Formats: sequence, structure tokens, C-alpha cells
Amino acid sequence: MSDIDYSSLPPSDRTELGRRCQRLIGALAAVTDDPHGVTRLYLSPAHKRATGLVADWMRTAGLTASIDALGTVRGHLDAASGPGAKRLLIGSHIDTVVNAGRYDGVLGVVAGILAVDELRRRRVALPFAIDVLAFGDEEGVRFPTTLASSSAIAGRLPPGALDLCDARKVSLREALVGFGLDPAQISAAAYDPAEVLGYLEVHIEQGPVLEHERLPLGIVTSIAGQTRLKATVLGEAGHAGTAPMNLRRDALAAAAEIMVMIETIGRAGAADSLVATVGQLSVSPGAVNVVPARVDFTLDVRAASDPPRLAALAEIRARSREIADRRHVGFVMEAYHESPTTPCSPRLAAAFAAGVERLGLTPRRLTSGAGHDGHAVHHLTEVGMLFVRCRGGISHNPMEYAEPEDMALAVEALIGAIEALAASIPAA
Ligand code: GLV
Ligand code: MN
Ligand code: MN
Repeated sequence: MSDIDYSSLPPSDRTELGRRCQRLIGALAAVTDDPHGVTRLYLSPAHKRATGLVADWMRTAGLTASIDALGTVRGHLDAASGPGAKRLLIGSHIDTVVNAGRYDGVLGVVAGILAVDELRRRRVALPFAIDVLAFGDEEGVRFPTTLASSSAIAGRLPPGALDLCDARKVSLREALVGFGLDPAQISAAAYDPAEVLGYLEVHIEQGPVLEHERLPLGIVTSIAGQTRLKATVLGEAGHAGTAPMNLRRDALAAAAEIMVMIETIGRAGAADSLVATVGQLSVSPGAVNVVPARVDFTLDVRAASDPPRLAALAEIRARSREIADRRHVGFVMEAYHESPTTPCSPRLAAAFAAGVERLGLTPRRLTSGAGHDGHAVHHLTEVGMLFVRCRGGISHNPMEYAEPEDMALAVEALIGAIEALAASIPAA
């Protein structure tokens, strides 16, 4: 239990809420494994320090903090109505991409903590408990898996995930143990669906729609499906001075043709919000005077609905095969993560809409092109998401920025959504 005396704490006004968001987000941005930017990969030393900081913030906000077997920090607030009440989950992630912005994920965790703090300052008694969750593996940058921590709370961590290794050959199991966690406790991280009321997440939009329409907040209707794949092109090493061009089996030249083809397919699917990205490439043996023998690359394909994404994947596979055959190189491509398009809950969208309207704002509905923990949490409970305008729609970039005023509005809209849900629960 928290030892905070809320009877003497005044509510915060909007300016103060914005300042508090900015201050906490700034503090977490300083927790990085790269002194030149924000890089906080899952189960890294920076992630470890971040979990400690977030747990401290949770305790300061009157939540009871703990950490589960996958490294998710959980802050619990009891229901005013006593034991046996359901739990509302509120969360986002504190891991980042490499050289990240400071708002992606972190804003949702900070908003959840500040919303609870504010509800207590305002003496709001809730008929449900709240768990604020700070997930650790939303980005899926370190291990060839993604959403491990949010999958665990839904009881759906894929079998075999613990044996997956990062680039340094450290397995997820070893990394969890090194972090001080016990992989044997993973099943205990899962919630019982019967005890959960829903999941709310605040997140920066990571796109330009809200800014374009001069709106600070938007309500998400669905989260785009995504497939992540690993591909390997196998050619033959040769002497850069003596191997004639027409006799080479150059894995990198073949991969380059495949990548341009992928980009062309992505561009052609604009009407379906199709996007296809090769984000990582490794060339072997990787010497200036050796014809490349092997290329490994990653592929990430997304669209607003599943059929165009699946059609694009089929076309990419078929045309990659043609290119590989014509160039006499081997080609294999394997999907390692697949999230179908995830619908958001109309009930939770209505709760967010009540929170947004209470602020005198338009409850603009929009889809999410980015992936979120909601993909995994959706298997446990209904998901609601609120987007916050971010400058230029820029994300996964140190330039990422959200205005303190917009973040304060998001915290207020989250409080409004919580109160709307509380009002919808019949008195016992
Ligand atoms: C996460 O940010 C993703 O959409 O890849
Ligand atoms: Mn995110
Ligand atoms: Mn991200």
C-alpha cells in the first residue's frame, strides 16, 4: 500500500499536468544505453533502470508497484468498492527502438500514472481496481519476437519464445534471468480474463492526421495488422577482380533487386495503407573485394486491413522467387511475427469519446498504422486507444515531439474515460 496522504494534495490544473508529463518523459529519456540518443532495448541495463524509475513514480502516485516475470512493471490501485472488483488495465511500453524519440510508449505509461494520481487528488472513488502496466517488449527490436511482455499478460507467450536469441546469441531466457526475473513464473503473469474490465492506452499518433486537422486527440478504431519476416539470399563468394560479371551469383545484387521490387509493391498499395519496409540488412562476408555470398534482411509489411497485406506478401514471395531463380541464388523467407488487424472496442472508444467531449473537443476516429501492445492484449480483453497529436507525425526518430498542452488533454481524456466506465457499472 502507498503511504501517500492524498487528503492534503490539491488537484493539478492543465498547465501543471502538461509540465508533469514533460518532466517525467524527460527523466525517462535520460535513461538510455546510448549517451548520444535514447536507446532502451528490452531487458537492457537501461530498461532495468527504467523499471526502477517507473516503479518509484507508481509508488509516488499511490500505486502498489511490482514487476512480473517478463519485466512488466505493474502499479495496482485497489477499488474503492473493496476486494473482488474487476481491474481496468491502463498501459503502454517503456522499451524503445534504436536512437528513438522520447514519447513513443512512455507517454502512455506516464498518462496512466498521472491519471491515477489525479483521480486520487480529486477524491474519485472507483468501483473497479486499476493496474497501470509498463510493458518492456513492444518494439521487438532486440529479440526475433515482439510483444512478449503483453502476450504474457494475455497468457499467450508463444512456446519456444524463451529460446530465441538476440544478435549476441543471448537467449530471451538468459536475458530474463540476467535481469533478475524468473522464467518459471511466466504463467503467473497472465490475468484471468474474468477479472479484467478492459485495456486503455494513450499513445502519440506517430502519423500526421491529427496535426493536419488541428486536433489534439483522436480515438483509434483499429490497429493495423503486421507481418515481420526474415529473408536470406544465398549466392557464392568470389574474387571482385577476377569473377566475370555474367558468371557471378551475387547475393547482394539479388537482394537489391528484391528490395526495389518490395518497395514498388508497397507504393502500389497506398489506397490500402500498405507499407513494406526492409529495415535491417547484413552482408557476408562483407569485404570490399569479395562478391557477397549471403544477405540476411528483415521485412515488415502492414496494411489497414488483412487482405491487402496477405496479398502483398504472396506477391513478394512469388516475385522474390523469380528474381532468385533468374540470378541463380537461393532464397528463403520466413515470417516470425504475425498480428492480424486488431479492432478496438466500441465500448471503450465511447468511453474515450466521453472523455474527449467533456473537454469540448471533437472525438475524431482514426486507424493506427503503427503496432501496439493492444495487438496482444486484445486476446485477453477489449482494447481502447487514444492518440495524441505529435509534431510532423514524426516517430521512431529523436525529433519526435508532443506538446505539453496536448499531453495534459490526453490525461484529462483518460480520466474522463475512466469516470465514464465507472458510471456505466451498476451500483452493487
Ligand atoms: C512499433 O512501434 C511498431 O509499430 O513497429
Ligand atoms: Mn509504441
Ligand atoms: Mn515504436
